Amino acid sequence: MIKFAHVIVFSTFLLTWVLGSDVGLTPVQMIEGHGYPSETHYIKTEDGYILTYYRIPHGIVDDSTSPRPTVLLQHGFISSAADYVNMGPGRSLGYILADAGYDVWLGNARGNTFSRNHTIWSPDFNKNLFFDFSWHEIGYYDYPAAIDYILNLKGDDSLYYVGHSQGTTSFLVLASTRPEYNKKIKLATLLAPAGHMGNPPNAAVKEYCMLIDEYAATWAASLIFEIPNTEAARIWGSTTCVLPVNYADCAAVYYTTMGIDITEVEPEMLPVIATNAPADAAIKELVHYGQIIKTGNFAKFDYGMMTNLMVYGSMTPPLYDLSKITAPVAFYYATNDGLLSIEDVKQTISEVSNVAGEYLVPLDAFNHYDFLFAKDVVELLYNEVVATIKKF
Ligand SMILES: *[C@@H]1O[C@H](CO)[C@@H](O)[C@H](O)[C@H]1NC(C)=O
Repeated sequence: MIKFAHVIVFSTFLLTWVLGSDVGLTPVQMIEGHGYPSETHYIKTEDGYILTYYRIPHGIVDDSTSPRPTVLLQHGFISSAADYVNMGPGRSLGYILADAGYDVWLGNARGNTFSRNHTIWSPDFNKNLFFDFSWHEIGYYDYPAAIDYILNLKGDDSLYYVGHSQGTTSFLVLASTRPEYNKKIKLATLLAPAGHMGNPPNAAVKEYCMLIDEYAATWAASLIFEIPNTEAARIWGSTTCVLPVNYADCAAVYYTTMGIDITEVEPEMLPVIATNAPADAAIKELVHYGQIIKTGNFAKFDYGMMTNLMVYGSMTPPLYDLSKITAPVAFYYATNDGLLSIEDVKQTISEVSNVAGEYLVPLDAFNHYDFLFAKDVVELLYNEVVATIKKF
């Protein structure tokens, strides 16, 4: 049976390669196009956002008689559920987990291309209200709503969590500010764990963030609340990058901030990535990242002294207390990650109570995006990730 499934997965992969790739497709079109089942769920948060979540309830062959354990995957900043499917079966983590016997759920954070809905506000006509959130609210409101929705639907009391980049930041927010959720997490898998971020290896990132207050003031004065030009970037990426003559430029644009070594990038996959990325997001997410990179403190949003006093009762924003995180957490990080130094990752690990494991990807060239898109990601990372999940 397992061998049969493998043959089907492999032939689907080959067929797609021959007939054309997933350029131009939404995540659901990709999933169904590869012969996997998909469901779309709308999940409402306490503060009124209506999120679009996708589900791959089982692998290409449904040969399981017992209920499948749930894995919830959350994407990074200006990204989407596409991160976990756009490299195709046998390669992207969504498919790998579905084929390994899991019930896979893919989140879309509030405000991204697929989660632009709210019970009262419009992302187009009330941008100032709709986009008034950072990754704090994504962890504090979106993730609890999703976890409760899924556990309720299945009658379960816990699930596996996987996050990449901002999907790890918001997990740290959730598990430290709503500690009652820790018992609902069997194991949290953090890929490129972005908690402490004060020492990014890419010096240009730090320089940019040293001016974040000035940028934030300019955006606020210009009434810019949403990260602009993402659609133009998607169109540019999914058309220009199809042409081999542009591969080098495209790779440079997509990867340089993420790590200088791009040996794990397959340029012909860039148009697929660019089809759904960058997805939309709030300026406040960027500003909040800028603040924690500038100050080196993994802290709540800094509104300025007076507003901080009103919101938090202190002049500076409170730090996230990672010692409140009691769920088992496995950390996966890389040497060539332009955003996350090993020093910062180690600091985050040292503050979390229940460390289930730490794993340095055994390739120096591995960068921040390679956690999703590297050509050798299965051998270098996902085999280890899946084996660790199976132990919990
Ligand atoms: C937003 O959500 C509401 C309630 O679920 C739904 O009726 C409406 O069609 C959605 N709007 C969009 C643009 O998806």
